[in-house]
Amino acid sequence: MSVRHFRSLLDLNSQELRQILARASELKKMLAEGVAHEFLKNKSLAMIFEKSSTRTRVSFEAGMTQFGGSSIFLSPADSQLGRGEPIPDTARVLSRMVDAIMVRTFSHDTVETLAEHSSVPVINGLTDSFHPCQLLADLQTYFEHRGDIQGKTVSWIGDGNNMCNSYINAAELLDFELLIACPPGYEPMQSLLDDNKDRVRLLRDPKQAVAGSSLVATDVWASMGQEDELQKRLLDFADFEVTPELMSYANNDAIFLHCLPAHRGEEVSAEVIDAPASLVWEEAENRLHAQKALLEFLLCS
Ligand code: CP
Ligand code: NVA
Repeated sequence: MSVRHFRSLLDLNSQELRQILARASELKKMLAEGVAHEFLKNKSLAMIFEKSSTRTRVSFEAGMTQFGGSSIFLSPADSQLGRGEPIPDTARVLSRMVDAIMVRTFSHDTVETLAEHSSVPVINGLTDSFHPCQLLADLQTYFEHRGDIQGKTVSWIGDGNNMCNSYINAAELLDFELLIACPPGYEPMQSLLDDNKDRVRLLRDPKQAVAGSSLVATDVWASMGQEDELQKRLLDFADFEVTPELMSYANNDAIFLHCLPAHRGEEVSAEVIDAPASLVWEEAENRLHAQKALLEFLLCS
């Protein structure tokens, strides 16, 4: 059987995604109840980080430890990647030593190239284009608190970035309506919008985008690698802060999610992110459980 990768959510079909989300909740329960689950004993995960991380690194490392396996952190600063060793060579070498490779990088092509030359699963831990691991956690959080997301309305407010692109993938796989409000010039990938005209709408008014919504999500206005654009972005996104007033246009039981790290007073106000409707801490925790379910799916099925 050919090796399965997780370059974007679309490497899964709807049924597989649902299976992983259900398993994530099971694994969460097993961990809480102290049930042994060393399903990846003696397996190892190489983790390449070309950008900073707290949640992704810790959740993958802790997850591998809980599974009885181990993880190896690699950064360009202290590996040959930083000295120009080609990605295909890195993929070939790591494939012979570890059981899976996770990569956080800039260009999505790097993930594609790694996957092309790797004989073990490659997992996208964030690129400029997608952040599929985060979507596993976001969806798990929604399912655990509100049930099935199919047919629901979800709002994305702010930058049409890697997270937004992955929300579009999720809308396609799980059949929900996605209303995106972003300023001109900050739209998500046009090809994704074109492929999902029936369920994804691009709007300019955040109030219109949260009307009837069950889930309001946002992210930073300047992603990693865009630090130089921050001042311009602060001006361009000024009308896109998720405030209590904006949340009042959503459904009464709408939840708020943010992949974190967050900037209170920019993309979200403290009154929203620190309120009971905000499930961001559980969302962050679910990175651990969802990625364990993903690792098990890729390595054991
Ligand atoms: N949400 C997320 O991916 O966090 P880190 O950048 O800390 O990994
Ligand atoms: N869009 C953000 C997500 C961080 C987890 C970034 O790419 O920096």
